[in-house]
Amino acid sequence: MPLPAIPGTSVGAVSCFPTIRRAIAADVPTLSELSAIAFTQAFGHLYAPADLARFLTGAYSQESYAALIADPTKALWVAERSGQVIGYGLAGPCNLPHPEVTEADGEIKRLYLLAGHQGSGVGSMLFETAMSWLLADGPRVLWLGVWSQNHGAQRLYNRYGFTKVGEYEFPVGEHRDREFIFRRPRGQPSVWAYPGSFH
Ligand SMILES: CC(C)(COP(=O)(O)OP(=O)(O)OC[C@H]1O[C@@H](n2cnc3c(N)ncnc32)[C@H](O)[C@@H]1OP(=O)(O)O)[C@@H](O)C(=O)NCCC(=O)NCCS
Repeated sequence: MPLPAIPGTSVGAVSCFPTIRRAIAADVPTLSELSAIAFTQAFGHLYAPADLARFLTGAYSQESYAALIADPTKALWVAERSGQVIGYGLAGPCNLPHPEVTEADGEIKRLYLLAGHQGSGVGSMLFETAMSWLLADGPRVLWLGVWSQNHGAQRLYNRYGFTKVGEYEFPVGEHRDREFIFRRPRGQPSVWAYPGSFH
């Protein structure tokens, strides 16, 4: 099987290859700002301005990112290109509202790239990094939640062995999104597109 194309380009002698690393406390202001921009770019049109503002202020605050980075049960990564943060991913224990979730299960909780950086493999790199971290201690059931109409992301998750097993409502201010719950069974073989490059 041919190796996948490695995302990235070169401009003169300057490499623009993406890199992925764990987020640190110094990333908190950038993460707070970038995550609000990325969410608004992807989904902002779905909500009344007041609902969107309330959601961003809570979930994407600097305090919330500082707490995530300090939480040893969770892991947060940033993707960078040419020294600029262009996206991020978050993983940890699963707390999706599905009756078959157990304490041992993992969840990919957030996965976002800025518009203009999507579709060139960086999201898959982040996703694989998060999955590798969640599976580092052995086979485990993995979960994630995805907006019912986000067919692009659902295709990506299907490729890594996740399928729909439920639904729930995700609150954005007073608004309620219809979300799908996706699950990847324990012990499913790992087929990586970007094996071992970013850990
Ligand atoms: C979803 C996302 C992280 C994927 O990262 P990416 O680097 O764009 O994806 P890759 O290049 O690694 O893989 C391409 C696949 O990602 C998905 N994808 C690509 N662009 C996408 C977009 N704008 N929105 C959702 N999924 C997208 C598709 O499945 C695509 O495969 P396809 O070409 O067969 O359709 C990124 O597109 C993104 O941030 N989208 C907007 C926010 C979002 O939907 N986040 C997921 C929330 S659950």
